[in-house]
Amino acid sequence: MERVRLSSLLDAGIETPFFIYSAAQLAADWQAYAEAVAGLDAIVGYAVKANSNPALLRRLAGFGAGAVVVSDYELRLALESGFAPQQMLMHGNGKRPRDLEAALRAGILLSVDSEFDLEQIISRATALGVTARLLLRVNPDIDPQVHPYISTGLLDSKFGFAEGAVERLRPRLQKLSSVEVVGLHCHLGSTLKSVQPLRDAARLLAVLVNELRRDGHPIQILDMGGGLGIDYSRGRDKIPTPDEVTEAVRPVLDELGLQLFLEPGRSLVARAGALIGRVLGVKDNGRKHFVVTDASMAQLIRPCLYGAFHSIELLEESVAGPQLAFDVVGPICESSDFLGQGRLLPTPRPGDGVIIYDAGAYGFAMSSRYNLHLGCAEYLVDGDSLRRVRTAETFDDLSRHFSDEPISVGTRQPSARPAARD
Ligand code: LLP
Repeated sequence: MERVRLSSLLDAGIETPFFIYSAAQLAADWQAYAEAVAGLDAIVGYAVKANSNPALLRRLAGFGAGAVVVSDYELRLALESGFAPQQMLMHGNGKRPRDLEAALRAGILLSVDSEFDLEQIISRATALGVTARLLLRVNPDIDPQVHPYISTGLLDSKFGFAEGAVERLRPRLQKLSSVEVVGLHCHLGSTLKSVQPLRDAARLLAVLVNELRRDGHPIQILDMGGGLGIDYSRGRDKIPTPDEVTEAVRPVLDELGLQLFLEPGRSLVARAGALIGRVLGVKDNGRKHFVVTDASMAQLIRPCLYGAFHSIELLEESVAGPQLAFDVVGPICESSDFLGQGRLLPTPRPGDGVIIYDAGAYGFAMSSRYNLHLGCAEYLVDGDSLRRVRTAETFDDLSRHFSDEPISVGTRQPSARPAARD
């Protein structure tokens, strides 16, 4: 990775598994977005959920990215990492009171996901004496052709207002206090391999922009969400570039004089990161060959959860064993604990290094402590420098939260209802 030899980390005895990120790849992926929006009035807001390590956040903030958050702690971390509140937005189909409070105090944009969300934002903003700027989240019922768990733009999704629901909301929007609607948002889904759904969605939103403007709302922002895929196959998939994304929506922006907001997560950080593990052993159950590694679904749940493909290689180039089709699996007590299936690899020896590519997005961020495999370390490579940007969790970190103490929640009043006859 850049000028650091990954196998030298293993030779040095660094504990596996761990995530490692390349600063140069992060900068290159940011650059593609920066060029795509050059000459446009646009904010590229990084979706913090994809990877919230502050070392990456600080770099993205330094490049000029905005930030898209979904909780009060994401918001806090983003602010501490240097993102400007004027370039930030909070989403959520169920914003908790603490999330709303934090977003309204920071003065960032908020999306509105439902009628109840609107009413809660209004009452909280009124109580705080602030005026919140809102984007209406529209569900355009357009199929992004991705895994159902990460598809958000069809009517069976829990997110946003269907087109008809926006129509029904218009009278309510005429009587707003403490909030103003300044834009429209949609996010069709993640791992998009085509910009056509974005083009279609932008056209559909344009109609609503005109209607809302006719109602007197100062609509300035068109937020097309995130979702651009990456080539996890490393060479086989043709994925659109950020430039193709902006070209797909540019006619609508020009026609209506709108500012563009984009919310990429994966396409900014996935390629920059890899998960590194060590081989624990090789086994053969008579039907299949397995490479068992210390990296598992506890660090990277994507293969288990979405059947996602990540390219996997052995780190050592001189591995001598015969090439076989292996399932690369972790040590977690679940049959779904696999990182890759049927992968052609030379037979490794115990202790050999394994690299799982393109794990920078939704890797550590979705990791769990299942089987008490605790949070692993993260490293950042920049040229020939190597920094640890997160230490691995320890047993002490875990046990600090165990407690056994009485708590008082008030006593139950005797029931006023007459006792049942029988
Ligand atoms: N904006 C909104 C409203 C979103 O819901 C998401 C992702 C993004 C932006 C960023 O999407 P991206 O550019 O990263 O695709 N855990 C899944 C992905 C879940 C995405 C959730 N929302 C995975 O590992 O593939």
